[in-house]
Amino acid sequence: MDTIFGGFEDLVVPRATEHLGQTDLSFGGKLLPALKICEDGGESGCGGKVWIAGELLCEYILEKSLHHLLSEATHGRRQFKKVLELGSGTGLVGLCVGLLEKNTFHDGSKVYVTDIDKLVPLLERNIELDKVQYEVLARELWWGEPLSVDFSPQEGDLQTNNVDLVLAADCVYLEKAFPLLERTLLDLTNCISPPVILMAYKKRRKADKHFFSKIKRNFDVLEITDFSKFDHYLKQRTHLFQLIRKHTV
Ligand SMILES: C[S@@+](CC[C@H](N)C(=O)[O-])C[C@H]1O[C@@H](n2cnc3c(N)ncnc32)[C@H](O)[C@@H]1O
Repeated sequence: MDTIFGGFEDLVVPRATEHLGQTDLSFGGKLLPALKICEDGGESGCGGKVWIAGELLCEYILEKSLHHLLSEATHGRRQFKKVLELGSGTGLVGLCVGLLEKNTFHDGSKVYVTDIDKLVPLLERNIELDKVQYEVLARELWWGEPLSVDFSPQEGDLQTNNVDLVLAADCVYLEKAFPLLERTLLDLTNCISPPVILMAYKKRRKADKHFFSKIKRNFDVLEITDFSKFDHYLKQRTHLFQLIRKHTV
């Protein structure tokens, strides 16, 4: 697993490559009707645009969700009724899941797209644009803060998971936020049967390896390679990981 991060140390790309191909948010016809996304040109912060790791995560979800959400990735063994996206930005990934739920699955799943307060109006705007008000809800969620009751594992003799699936795209990019993001991931998984965590990540800075080496104390970090656009994203140093909590309650 360590080799995933080898060979990148010399690459320092100060600015992210945004996804500018907004004209086709049907992902090559895999998502119809196509996703509509309003970007604000960065007015509300870096999350106001679509980022490449979000695009990867959508591609993966669409490829692996023929019958139910991620049914092809889990061999139909796991149901994802409550989905939480961290650092949603425009909401691209959560909206993609919400559209699948609305148009195809009808499984009664709810998707929570979350971000800092400034991004919530943009998230709400995009939810309205895609008409997924029933499937997708926007919430403020600051990494590192105590989780709200909507997301924290439920108290009891044994803490059980509240959220089934956590999605995060391009959330590892700001060194000072690394411990905050780690705290939130630990809090979400501090339970029996922790949620599945899918994290899409674009390698930009040397410092990113500090995030991954730190979280490897508590999570196995497995790279997912079995999807058709793997090589395409690899060329753009964009990866998909599953994080599996090692020691739970
Ligand atoms: C690079 S953007 C990625 C946006 C989106 N996931 C995508 O792939 O297009 C990172 C997102 O993380 C959010 N973020 C940064 N620090 C945060 C924090 N401390 N708590 C919650 N969200 C945060 C930003 O507001 C931004 O929307």
